[in-house]
Amino acid sequence: MSSIAFTVNGRAVEVVADGDTPLLDVLRNHLDLTGTRFGCGLEQCGSCMVLIDGQPEKSCGKALSTVAGKSVLTIEGLGTPAQPHPLQQAFLDEQAGQCGYCLSGILISAKALLDRNPAPTRTEIAAALDDNICRCGSHHRIMRAVARAAAQMRGEVRP
Ligand code: FES
Ligand code: FES
Repeated sequence: MSSIAFTVNGRAVEVVADGDTPLLDVLRNHLDLTGTRFGCGLEQCGSCMVLIDGQPEKSCGKALSTVAGKSVLTIEGLGTPAQPHPLQQAFLDEQAGQCGYCLSGILISAKALLDRNPAPTRTEIAAALDDNICRCGSHHRIMRAVARAAAQMRGEVRP
């Protein structure tokens, strides 16, 4: 057991656990941040995606010890029901989910994309979401939603 300090959604936290514990487990079971989903647990589906120092990472494959001193962003840090992030609003506007299980990870990957590229092409959006699987087959709506959010964040209005 060790005590690992890091930041989650701008809040300093300290977790006492085995350093090999998957970050996903720590987020969900130690910090009660259950918005980050457990899909495969094998770094295959992307539903557990979080940003670590701004980079998208699959939290099921990240040991707690590797985030010491780092900054983690989960879906809970993206927006709130009262003040959704433009991506969250665009996903609602485009009805870009069915079961929604994949969406936390997809929104995090999309945020990483728009942070580095405010005007992505359709090909660039597809490439950025390549590690995220949606079993419901909402891919076309998801792509539209990311493009819509990007346009909105650039100050362009879309119907
Ligand atoms: S739960 Fe981490 S990639 Fe599937
Ligand atoms: S909306 Fe169901 S897995 Fe994506």
